Formats: sequence, C-alpha cells, structure tokens
Amino acid sequence: MTKGIAVYPGSFDPPTNGHLDLIERGSKIFEELVVAILRNSEKSPMFSVAERLEMLRELTADLENVRLDTFDGLMVQFAKSIGAKCVLRGIRAISDYEYELQMALMNRKLEPRLETVFMMPADKYSYVSSRLVREVAQAGGPVRGLVPELVERKLREKVDPAYKLGEEPGIETTRRRKKKA
Ligand code: PNS
Repeated sequence: MTKGIAVYPGSFDPPTNGHLDLIERGSKIFEELVVAILRNSEKSPMFSVAERLEMLRELTADLENVRLDTFDGLMVQFAKSIGAKCVLRGIRAISDYEYELQMALMNRKLEPRLETVFMMPADKYSYVSSRLVREVAQAGGPVRGLVPELVERKLREKVDPAYKLGEEPGIETTRRRKKKA
C-alpha cells in the first residue's frame, strides 16, 4: 500500500465498469484515493455533476479509502489543495497513450512533484468509454455489462423513459413501449 493520497480525475459522464475497475485497483495500492469529477468541462454533459457524484457515491460505498470530490480549473492545483502526491489515470489501449502522455507531461511541467501513475483496467473493458456508452444508449442500444446496473438504469431514464434498452448486445431490441389504451 502506497502511503498518501492519490487523485483519480475525470469526467465520469457516466461512470463505466472500466472506471470502477480502475477505482478498485487504485484503492488497493493507494492509502486514500480521491475520485475527482471535473466541473467546468467544455463538453455539454449528459449527466450533471450532482448526478455523477451521486452515482459514484453509491458505486464506491463499500470502498473505505475512496473519497469523492469535484474540481474546477487545473487538476494539479486541486491535487495540491488536497495534498495528493499521485495522479491515477487509466490506459486502455495504445490509442490512449499519446493523449495521456501529453497530459502527464503537461501536468509534470505545471507541478513537478506530482507523479502520474497509469494502470490498465481489465482487458474486457479495453474498448469501453463514456463517450461510446453515451452514443449507444442515446441510440437506444444495450449497454449491459459496460456500465454498472445503476448507471444502466440512469441512462435508460435519461435517454427516454419510453425507450427500452436491449438485453443482448447486437440484437435489435429497441422499441417504443406500447401506449396505454
Ligand atoms: O475523463 P476525461 O475527460 O478523460 O478526464 C480528463 C481530465 C478531467 C482528467 C482533464 O481534462 C483535466 O485534468 N482537466 C482539468 C484541466 C487541466 O488541469 N488541464 C491541464 C491538463 S493537461
């Protein structure tokens, strides 16, 4: 167990099984892990920060050394303000590497004492991203197995209460609920 605080920053819009996998792995190697949601993202989010916080709260309730927070502005400043000495980021595939490397080096330039630690989520989540999950859900497709059940429910509610997400990936099951007679 590495002593001290690590911060796992991100958009988490929505949290996926890949995020959860990384949080669990991170919580095993860091004394305290702060999952930090960026508040001022330029993207127009699907879930409000409050909704993401609430989902993550439920999903990490059994992890004693995981804490949740939100931040604005530079991540390194937030990390400093909570006394974190490490930043945790996930790398799923080589395609993530270039962006993550740039970000890690920029963060190092901004705050040389903050180390970025990369971890890989389970390979079964190597293709799972919040962006793709949103895209599939918005088109009424199935996201089972890609996100926790709680998130699946929230996505379903968010997209359209009149739509039902499919049970089996790859099967065309999107349909409108029958109107009440
Ligand atoms: O989940 P994401 O969208 O990949 O997370 C990206 C995030 C939030 C970690 C990154 O955009 C970030 O740290 N933003 C805060 C602004 C900042 O510090 N920018 C300089 C980093 S290069």
